[in-house]
Amino acid sequence: MSASLSEKTDASATGNTSAVNHDLQENLRRLDRLANLGLVSASIAHEIKNGLVAIKTYVELLLEKDGDTEMTEIVRRELKRIDSLATQMLRLSAPKSTMLTTVQIHEVLDHSLRLLEHQMNGKMIMLKRDYRATPDTVRGDESQLQQAFMNLVLNGVEAIGSNGELTVRTELFSDAPGRNGLKIFFQDTGPGIAVENLSRLFEPFFTTKKNGTGLGLAISQRVAEDHCGKIEVVSELGRGSTFIVSLAAEL
Ligand SMILES: Nc1ncnc2c1ncn2[C@@H]1O[C@H](COP(=O)(O)OP(=O)(O)OP(=O)(O)O)[C@@H](O)[C@H]1O
Ligand SMILES: [Mg+2]
Repeated sequence: MSASLSEKTDASATGNTSAVNHDLQENLRRLDRLANLGLVSASIAHEIKNGLVAIKTYVELLLEKDGDTEMTEIVRRELKRIDSLATQMLRLSAPKSTMLTTVQIHEVLDHSLRLLEHQMNGKMIMLKRDYRATPDTVRGDESQLQQAFMNLVLNGVEAIGSNGELTVRTELFSDAPGRNGLKIFFQDTGPGIAVENLSRLFEPFFTTKKNGTGLGLAISQRVAEDHCGKIEVVSELGRGSTFIVSLAAEL
């Protein structure tokens, strides 16, 4: 993208307007193709989900009659996986309907953590909250933010496995006069991330987990970007990882 931008500048400097037009048209075509791809993925995901409703009902009936419990479990698990894959795909590609309100980030974090607390207790994962942002308000979509936070906490929990610490910290920052933001840190004591994987984390479908869809971070990043924000990651092998979500604050 930046390469074609600089090409454009060079071309206009030499007065070559047809090259500028060509670049512009090529970029527009690319954007159009991407938008279409999103629409096609969303439609396919939607059709898969619709088909699954019928398949699930029929398969459940068959499974009730059949006594093979191992097979039953496999079929149920796989159906659930396809269903959640289609749901994630739909969320990633469907045109988003955002509900913007004033969101209290600490409340959303508490709610997300409450939903995962049971899992953490069972795995002896100690949860630490270190909320420093006052005020903690952003303009945003509460349910999308919750989805992103839960993805990040879940990744931390899955990385730790058992016995470890998960810290959720917030703080305010200002990167330019009048431009204030809120950062949320999700820090885990998991194994860290290999250097060769760092650049691929946010790619849709990139996963190192047996049953992962590889969509959690792609979705979370999109949520952050929809809030004029971003997600960064700092990781050290053997020590753990920290995912940092930056959002524009509403002060
Ligand atoms: N906190 C973390 N520590 C170590 N590795 C991580 C962490 N978070 C993400 N990763 C790596 O990034 C990959 C992509 O994460 P992402 O959340 O997108 O998908 P997933 O967790 O594999 O599957 P899903 O979220 O769909 O269940 C993971 O498979 C894992 O390799
Ligand atoms: Mg994940």
